[in-house]
Amino acid sequence: MSRAAAVILRLFREAGSGFVSGELVSRELQMSRTAVWKHINGLREAGYIIEAIPSRGYHLLSTPDILSAEEVLQKLRTTRIGRHLVCLRETASTNADAFRLAEDGADEGTTVIAEEQSGGKGRRGRVWSSPSGVNLYCSVVLRPAIMPHEAPQLTFLSAVAVARAIEQSTALKPEIKWPNDVLIKGRKVAGLLNEMSAETDGINFVILGIGVNLNMTEAQFPADLRTPATSLLLEQGRPVNRAQFAARMLEELDRLYTGFLAQGFGPVRDEWQQRCNAGGREIVVSEGGRETVRGMFNGIDGDGALLLRLPDGTAERVISGDVRVI
Ligand code: BTN
Repeated sequence: MSRAAAVILRLFREAGSGFVSGELVSRELQMSRTAVWKHINGLREAGYIIEAIPSRGYHLLSTPDILSAEEVLQKLRTTRIGRHLVCLRETASTNADAFRLAEDGADEGTTVIAEEQSGGKGRRGRVWSSPSGVNLYCSVVLRPAIMPHEAPQLTFLSAVAVARAIEQSTALKPEIKWPNDVLIKGRKVAGLLNEMSAETDGINFVILGIGVNLNMTEAQFPADLRTPATSLLLEQGRPVNRAQFAARMLEELDRLYTGFLAQGFGPVRDEWQQRCNAGGREIVVSEGGRETVRGMFNGIDGDGALLLRLPDGTAERVISGDVRVI
């Protein structure tokens, strides 16, 4: 979006639901009325509905549901996360973009959001379906002073942030499934893929990759999904405002990460365990379709392992596998 378009949107915001005179816009931008008109038309092409009444000026009637930096930033109240925000219409993968920015020295909290990904990455080398204009694809650069084996703690932190944002934006009840899927009524609504650059004695940076199915329709899901999937639109029957959702989620990340730096993993672990679909239940873990272990869910460890209490009372740690709640 051009600087002129951003200024016009700011003037609309300042006018509340009122009119902004052509004279004011042209004074602020130091441009002729004709040049202003061209920028107004540019905004219309981007989906803003703007009426123009000769004696009164311009009036913003509605804002499109786009993930532009202007739309997200004007809703965002954070101290660290998303203060440097890169919004792209299309990219291969926001994780790859954020990784490159971090390698070039980007500040902690730098965030990349895209309307569409042509090579969205899922866990275990899978593809993350990323159609245009309906979901949230987002990656955040963090630089915590923790050891590499503690990095999974940040994936748990992002799962909690997504669950909180869903609760604030809808009346739905999200649950978290180990290691890091967010579910609604047993169907996956969000996935997390964290990548890092580390040395043996510390982390250079972690990329929190977050994909949330917001307004995806049934027809937009690939036919061959391994896990049953859903979107907030399908679950609540109406769309969510994506820029609003993105701002809420980044705010929750900001809050949780500030707490994590001050108090460590404990509070995140507690909330994750409360939100986990396996809380207080018996679970079966399988690998490649074969059952490997069965026992009572007993929380998560600081390195991301799943903890089980076996029928004979012994404790078991699980570091990979598919979990089914009985
Ligand atoms: C999973 O397999 O559950 C993880 C999916 C992670 C998808 C997100 S979308 C934004 C970010 N960019 C990517 O390429 N992947 C992550």
